[in-house]
Order: sequence, then C-alpha cells, then structure tokens
Amino acid sequence: MTLSLENLINQKISNAFNTLGLDDKYAFVKISDRPDLSDFQCNGALALAKIEHKNPREIATRIQTELEKDNDFSHISIDGPGFINLSLSDDLIARNMDEVAADKRFGVASVAKPKTVVMDFGGPNVAKALHVGHLRSAVIGESIRRIEQFVGNNVISDVHFGDWGTPMGMILSEIIRQDGSLEKVENYTIEDISDFYKKANIRCKEDEAAKENARVITAELQNGNPQYRKAWMHLRKVSVEAVKKNYKELDAHFDLWLGESDAHETCAKIVKIAAKKGVSEVDDGATIVRLEEANKPKPPVILVKSDGGYSYQVTDIATIKMRVDDLKADEIIYVVDKRQSLHFEQVFEVAEKIGIAPHVILKHVGFGTVNGSDGKPFKTRDGGVMNLEDLIALSKEKVRESMPEPDAQYDASYIENLVSEIAIGAIKFQDLKNNSASGYIFELDDFAKFEGKTGPYIQYAIARINSILRKASEVGIRSGKIQISNREERELALKLAQLNSVIMRAHADTEPSILSDYAYTLAQTFSTFYNASSIMNEENKTLASSRLKLAKLVRDVLKLLLQLLGIKAPEVMLKKQ
Ligand code: ARG
Repeated sequence: MTLSLENLINQKISNAFNTLGLDDKYAFVKISDRPDLSDFQCNGALALAKIEHKNPREIATRIQTELEKDNDFSHISIDGPGFINLSLSDDLIARNMDEVAADKRFGVASVAKPKTVVMDFGGPNVAKALHVGHLRSAVIGESIRRIEQFVGNNVISDVHFGDWGTPMGMILSEIIRQDGSLEKVENYTIEDISDFYKKANIRCKEDEAAKENARVITAELQNGNPQYRKAWMHLRKVSVEAVKKNYKELDAHFDLWLGESDAHETCAKIVKIAAKKGVSEVDDGATIVRLEEANKPKPPVILVKSDGGYSYQVTDIATIKMRVDDLKADEIIYVVDKRQSLHFEQVFEVAEKIGIAPHVILKHVGFGTVNGSDGKPFKTRDGGVMNLEDLIALSKEKVRESMPEPDAQYDASYIENLVSEIAIGAIKFQDLKNNSASGYIFELDDFAKFEGKTGPYIQYAIARINSILRKASEVGIRSGKIQISNREERELALKLAQLNSVIMRAHADTEPSILSDYAYTLAQTFSTFYNASSIMNEENKTLASSRLKLAKLVRDVLKLLLQLLGIKAPEVMLKKQ
C-alpha cells in the first residue's frame, strides 16, 4: 500500500515515539501553520507533557534528536512551548511523488473497516417537476455517495420517493372532479399530472370540502382501495420516469427507487413497537411520542394522525427499520434541506427510544437554499419556482455562446455534448464550492466562466494538461523519475501530497466543498508551476521528464477530484476565438 507523504511521516514519528517509550497516540503531524518555516508540525510533545507532567520542550528535544538521525528530514526545530517543526528533504518528496504517481489510489487510504452506508438523497415527489430546491440534494448527495464509495464503504443510495402523502389524494380527486372517473388516468403524461396537482393545490387551499375529499381519498388509497391504487401506480410510474431523466442528466445514481409507500406496512410495526415500549400515547385521537425536552424543547412526534393516516415522521422511522433490517445499514446519511433539521432530530430520537437502530449512525447533512440576487430562494423572472430543467437549459445557453462553430474535427454533436458537460459541471461546482450548510446566491453571469473558482476552470486546467501531454509525446518527451529542482516544483509536490488528508477530511465532515476548494488551489498551484518550469523548452531532459510526470499526476488527481464531485472532465475544451 502506498502511503501519502503525511502518513509516511506519521509512521516515522510513530517509530521515534516508540523508540523513546512515548505514547504514539500523539505521533502525528499536520501541515505547518507557518509554511515559510517548515512543511509539517507535530504538537505531540505538548499533549504528552500535560499527561506526564513534564516540560514539553524537553520531550520535544528528545524527539528532535531521534528524528535527526533520519536524512529524510532536512531541518527540525522546536518553537514556542514545544512545537516540533519539520522540513522534508527534496529527495523524500520526490520519492514519495514517484510512488504516489504509480499508485491507483494516489496514496489515499481506505477505511480500516468498511461499513454499509445507506444514502438518502434526491427526495423527489410524485407529480412535481424537480426544481432548484432539489438540485442541492442530488448534487451534494451524489458527491458524498462517491466519496463514501472511494474510501471503501459499501454504499446503497435510495431516492426515497415522496409518493404516499396527501398530494396523492389531491391529484386523484382533481382528476375525478374533471373527468368524472379515473378511467383516463393511464393516458396522462407527467405534464398533465403536474397540471392536475397545481390545480388541486389551489382548490384545496380555497375549499375546505375539496381538502376533506382529498384527505378521504388519500386514506382510502393507503388502505388499499384497488381503483385508487391502480391509478396511483400510473402517477408514480410516470413521475419516476420523468425524474430518472433529470437525475441521469445530473449524473446522480440511485441503487434503489423505493418510496414512502414502501414503508407503509412497517409503519404499523413501528406503532406497535412504540406502544409495547410504552413510549407512545394517544392524544386527541392521534398516536404520539413525547420527546425529552431537557436539552432543547421539541414538539411531540405524531406517528398516526387523528384521521388514521401515517405521518411523514413515522414513514421515516419505519424506513430506518427497513434499512437496518433489510439492508444491514451501519450508517444512514440524509442529504436534505436544513429546514428539515427538526424533523430528523425527532425521527432519530424516536428511533433511539424504541431501539430499532442500535449502533447505527444516523446523520442529517442539512444544506442551505439556493438564492437569487435578492437573497431569497431562487425564482424565475416571473416570480415562479425555477425548474431544474429550465435552469440546466439556461446554463447550456450561456455555455453555448462561448463555443466555436462546428468544424471537421469537432462536429455539432461533439460540441453539444461538451456544452452539456461544461454547463452541468458549472452548475454542480457552483453548488459544491461553498459549505453545504450555507445557502448561496445563484450566480447567473460568472458561474460558467473559464476563469475564477468555477467548474469550467478546473475542467479547463485538465484539458490544458491533456494538451501538454499530447504535445510532449509528439516531440518525444517521456515522463520519468521525479526530482525537485526549484521552489515551484516543491510547492506543487507538497500540494499534491495533501490529497489523502483532504479526502479524509471531506469524508469525515461529509463536506464536498473541501474537495472543490482543494481542486481549485491545486489547479492554481499547477499554473504557477507551469509558468515557472517549462516542459517543452527544458534542455535538461531528466528535468523535462520529471515535470511531465508531475503534470500528469496533477491531471489525474484533478480528474479524480472532479469525479468525486460528480463532474465530467472533457478531454478537450473548446472556446470561441
Ligand atoms: N420528499 C421530501 C420533500 O420534498 C424529501 C425527502 C427527504 N428524505 C427523507 N427521508 N425524508 O420534502
């Protein structure tokens, strides 16, 4: 197994600690807070001194003396109360880069014990076109899914279709109102169904009787009325087909297309378990669970509504049980709007209380809203909710403007595919470049530019290196052993060496923006390197070969990062001259 530079040093420090009889729990480094003074620092002496009631500088000096026997460290100093500052020899850095370049995982570690992680994201609903609010769940969720998979976990993604609540009864009753029956349902397309839903929504807001009717039909549907079931199956099927198309375009992958409806039977079991455990009570006709309010007051969880219908909450609780029992989940990650935080806190607390998911980690990754320039949720020009499809079309239009005319080498279909990869890449990167929890303003002007912190900038950096590799091969430069001959090469290598810790951090924090940040700075560091260190015009052939190998490694790492973000890396990028 190839170790990242950081882990290689950790190993050396560990050995030194062991030789000195020190607890190696504290034998690790982090990137130096003062890169002008050192490459890494180890603060272990301070922690040890506290426990052993000794002078930290004294412990640090012993570690220093031990490490100085190793030529791989070019300079070791002790600063402040006992920080050990470490600089590495160029030779060590070069050797490690050679190993990393030859490794399929580029020195990135895998988890020691792979877990089964169920990922709940997407969360579309029957009859509702995906809108900009669904974008983040798909984009962030897909990236986390890929990160989980890359570190070695067994990931199962489930779209958790919203196919069981009152909207079902609303649509069915609206169809019956207009057609007199459900006979024509099978002919209806997603557009028709969305239309019925919109009308039903307005009607139910204005008319109590219509609302009551929708409620009754929902309850009957849930209780198995065959006529309603048959019609509902069609609504569901058509809706699934429509969103599948959207997710395909976004390159979001779901292993399971289960929905709230699939948890129906298990909901009854949950109600029974809760009663048996003595945690539920009947309040005003509804079955509820009261929660501990010691830390934070939380409203009670409704399991069964007073009309007998199951709630959104109990559906999620039942789904947890299914994921634990059937899928053997060790962890369940929900990527859902942070406005649903309370819902998940409640659901997780009940799951814990009734003991359906012992030792299972339940995690809600809540994200902020996509906003317009007014700081309010992003709307269309006429004030409506922005459809995801329209947003993608808008982005493509923007990218198309910067494309050249098709020619013999790049025909129209090639360009159209490129437009799609750039446009989707731009949308996704804009969504992934900030901390998930904070909302962001959808930038309509700059997000698809080739400069600045954008998806196309990274795609362009990759394509540029591709072109360097092609040219180098044409003039017969081959990639060869890496050596560090100047400051820019050294900085680039040290930047590359951060890959392992960056991916580990993104994984631990379920935070893709750590990857997008790193991809951006890596691309910038490459630019600085390439401006200072020529490959094509370098007389010294060994140096040219070394640089070529570094360039290829940067390209491969950037491709991996985009892959983990769910963004395509086109081989060639085109631009209008
Ligand atoms: N369909 C829901 C909505 O549109 C989101 C589902 C989120 N996932 C979950 N397990 N509750 O709000």
